[in-house]
Amino acid sequence: TTKHLIAPSVLAANFAKLYDDIQIVNRSEADWFHIDIMDGVFVPNISFGFPVMQAIAKHASKPLDVHLMIVDPDRYLKNCKDSGATVITVHYEACTHLHRTLAAIKELGCKAGVALNPHTPVGLLKDVIRDIDLVCIMSVNPGFGGQKFIEQTYTKIKEIRYLSSKINDSLLIEVDGGVSIDNAAKLVEAGADVLVAGSSVFSAADPAEAVRQLKNVGPI
Ligand code: DX5
Ligand code: ZN
Repeated sequence: TTKHLIAPSVLAANFAKLYDDIQIVNRSEADWFHIDIMDGVFVPNISFGFPVMQAIAKHASKPLDVHLMIVDPDRYLKNCKDSGATVITVHYEACTHLHRTLAAIKELGCKAGVALNPHTPVGLLKDVIRDIDLVCIMSVNPGFGGQKFIEQTYTKIKEIRYLSSKINDSLLIEVDGGVSIDNAAKLVEAGADVLVAGSSVFSAADPAEAVRQLKNVGPI
């Protein structure tokens, strides 16, 4: 089995010193940058948009994993790709024609992901699992960093792992929200391939060391 990936969430960075925080991630054992885009409609918060993402892309030496927490994401897929996205993840709950949206992401040459809110069962993905590269299991209600991890997530990871083993063995399972050194090993054990971590990385005294610890959690 290959090692899990670490995706620090820039939402928890110091926006007044964004360049410095990008360099910390560049020099760390992190694999991706996680970019949270919120519209104040799909979620009750507004983060930052494509101009900021372009500035991040200019200095980031690792792929941008973009999490679109926006309604009707089809309108912004091209802009997202042009702003430097490698992975584009849309919310199941925000897409009326999810299959079409995923095809549009692939058409742009990006990897396609679907995020599920805590209340959305993984079984709803059965008929698109073969068409996607990543599933993002939300382990908090999206909109804010620093929230408490929802325990039901472990069961959801195991369920999607089982589905993907039958339908799409290369599917990446990402977990987003409340991830820390306290639950990382258990998440990887359950089947997580990508750990998103915001506050547990950027609030640490040494963010690179926090990434190193998340990357190197042993079996439990
Ligand atoms: C929440 C975002 C997360 C957030 C995670 O809506 O999708 O990516 O930045 O932050 P932490 O790791 O602090 O829960
Ligand atoms: Zn996110």
